[in-house]
Amino acid sequence: MKNLTTASGIPYLHHEDTQSAGPRGPLLLQDFILHEKLAHFNRERIPERIVHAKGSAAYGTFTVTQDITAYSKAKLFGAIGRQTKVLLRFSTVGGEKGSADTERDPRGFAVKFYTEDGNWDLVGNNTPVFFIKDPKKFPDFIHTQKRDPFTNCKSATMVWDFFSLNPESLHQVLFLMSDRGTPHGFRHMHGFGSHTYTLINHKDETVYVKFHFKSCQGIKNFTSAEAKLMRGEDPDFAQRDLLNAIEDGNFPKWVLKIQLMTAEQAGSNAFNPFDLTKVWSQKEYPLIEVGVLELNQNPDNYFAEVEQAAFSPSRIVDGIGYSPDKMLQGRILAYPDAQRYRLGVNFEQLPVNRCPFIVNNYQRDGSMRVDDNGRRSPNYFPNSFDDIRPDPAYRRPAEPIVHPVADWFDRNGEGENDHYSQPGIFYRDVLSPEDKKHLIANIAESMRQIEGPLKDEITNRQFCHLFRADFNLGMGVMNELGVSADKMAEHLQPKG
Ligand code: NDP
Ligand code: HEM
Repeated sequence: MKNLTTASGIPYLHHEDTQSAGPRGPLLLQDFILHEKLAHFNRERIPERIVHAKGSAAYGTFTVTQDITAYSKAKLFGAIGRQTKVLLRFSTVGGEKGSADTERDPRGFAVKFYTEDGNWDLVGNNTPVFFIKDPKKFPDFIHTQKRDPFTNCKSATMVWDFFSLNPESLHQVLFLMSDRGTPHGFRHMHGFGSHTYTLINHKDETVYVKFHFKSCQGIKNFTSAEAKLMRGEDPDFAQRDLLNAIEDGNFPKWVLKIQLMTAEQAGSNAFNPFDLTKVWSQKEYPLIEVGVLELNQNPDNYFAEVEQAAFSPSRIVDGIGYSPDKMLQGRILAYPDAQRYRLGVNFEQLPVNRCPFIVNNYQRDGSMRVDDNGRRSPNYFPNSFDDIRPDPAYRRPAEPIVHPVADWFDRNGEGENDHYSQPGIFYRDVLSPEDKKHLIANIAESMRQIEGPLKDEITNRQFCHLFRADFNLGMGVMNELGVSADKMAEHLQPKG
């Protein structure tokens, strides 16, 4: 038997009744246990993630199956068979912490590799592309995915207004509106690092890279109707599905593959290879297998290990580098900032975030410092007392950056303004006839909800993008919405 105690370890008896003046009298101020209980309860909530608030996570192992040491000196890739502990958190994007798992939304796919060179976070989605390509647009974009400031409801009008005014979103919009926008839980979808990163080898040679996690469970989606039903039946479907599979020993797996592009290839590529709204064709840049990620352990405590987990694309390890992808650059700043706000300045010391290997630096104090705070050791650098030194072996190769700086560049220059070719290829060559039918129906179902005096303007603007990607796609959605070609043509006449 264990004693019931206060937070400071004092054993006590009365957990269910408060000290009072006689059995029916008022309560006594001296019952500090009542204060402690109520005050702690009042502080149980922390800010939810500003995006990706609803999520599920599990621990597992990453095992190297192929030798990629020619491309990267990262220790975790160092030898075939090498295993690294991981935490993988899946999420929806726009919904609040209590929202349903089967909402139409991209799914987050955030992996923390606990490597001996520190924690590497690969924070991606279940899609290889994204809606925008400049981080300054992110808050505006997310506002349209969340609640209307007046009605406090989700608004298809805001959503399609944004999409139609930002045609670079089209590629991701087609992924989102296909049945892969409502995956059957988290086990049956792929994951993508999405951005372009860099691999660096022992000779300091670099190559650009994209990361793909291919589901070994196979792709399985809900149709729009099934997803809607499941929202009511079990809003926590994906959480339950993942948890139960792992509890049953049915461990989900993904094969990690990479695509590589040299600097020369990047220079001569038809489009900007750092543009997050585009993929690198797998025909030109074939997938290379690296290893297998298996999830095999549920966290024991959701708040401690999932809610308090902090992933950031800024955390890369030796052998891996960033790229000039503007979105990646913006995210490097945004995530640790969000985590300092959400979890406090010492969030890296929380057990789920703490590097299990060595951490040595001169950061001290701060709210909720929970380790030994460096004990007696010096808290400044350089000093004459300790033996902590930067190791030149970790020097990154120099990157030549010769670019003019200006407030504004023409973002529609060559290789930047084609928002339609890849969405067109996706529609024509990748989707099956049934996928196409569902995509058209799903787009129409959502666009039908555009309302207000600008309904026609927004709708027609989006039609233009759909037509520019593929004529049959545009016609399909127009027919499904019952819009006549005449009405469309009328709208397209120059005004005035
Ligand atoms: P490929 O034919 O080599 O690849 C097509 C890719 O599409 C495969 O990765 C396939 O993998 C995936 N795919 C198949 N069905 C769907 C679907 N319903 N929704 C989303 N993805 C699907 O051609 P390319 O690499 O030249 O790309 C052609 C188009 O495929 C691109 O324009 C892009 O829209 C799309 N795509 C490309 C990816 C890439 O990284 N190159 C990744 C995903 C999609 P799987 O069936 O295992 O998902
Ligand atoms: C979470 C910002 C683009 C995937 C977050 C969080 C912020 C954020 C602030 C919450 C972090 C936290 O509180 O711990 C941004 C900004 C972006 C951007 C500013 C664009 C500039 C993207 C892209 C992807 C992505 C392109 C995927 C390719 C995720 C994922 C999470 C997340 C998976 C949840 C991580 C977790 O499970 O804890 N984002 N994001 N984000 N973002 Fe982004």
